[in-house]
Amino acid sequence: MNKPLHDFFTKDHHRLEGYLVNVIEADNEINVEYYHLFRKGLLRHIKMEEKILFPAAAKVNKELVQKIIPQFRLEHGALTALLVPPPTKAIINAIQFVLNKHDFEEEKDGGLYDICEALTIAQTNTLLQQLIATEEVPLHPPNPAPIALESAIRALQRAGYVYDEICK
Ligand SMILES: [Fe+2]
Ligand SMILES: [Fe+2]
Repeated sequence: MNKPLHDFFTKDHHRLEGYLVNVIEADNEINVEYYHLFRKGLLRHIKMEEKILFPAAAKVNKELVQKIIPQFRLEHGALTALLVPPPTKAIINAIQFVLNKHDFEEEKDGGLYDICEALTIAQTNTLLQQLIATEEVPLHPPNPAPIALESAIRALQRAGYVYDEICK
């Protein structure tokens, strides 16, 4: 089956993974350029899902979308919160852990993308155009205050993850 939306988002996952694997350097330092590309790209990716894909699918079948979407939303919240404090190896590990599971649940057969793609089949091309035209999210500099990491840890908890377990 032809799946343009699934392919579009999956390609973006691979692009972002390509940045993420290069964020931690051999000496465990953070590669600032790759982190910036990843942070900018992931925030835009989440924006495309939250502002374009989910609303379009919900318009067709609100009940179904409301049933399947909460966990993805909680994980988007946790990932976004993890991009607020300055990056450390532990934070990058936690992002990688959540993203692996999150992307799999979106991409798998019968997963989130397949469901949204089927619901919005009448408007695939319009949605693709909107996705391509999505602007980047304005970025704030990382926030070194302890509350930034504490908020991220709480957002992870709401999504069912324990930071201390997934940051190693
Ligand atoms: Fe997502
Ligand atoms: Fe995604």
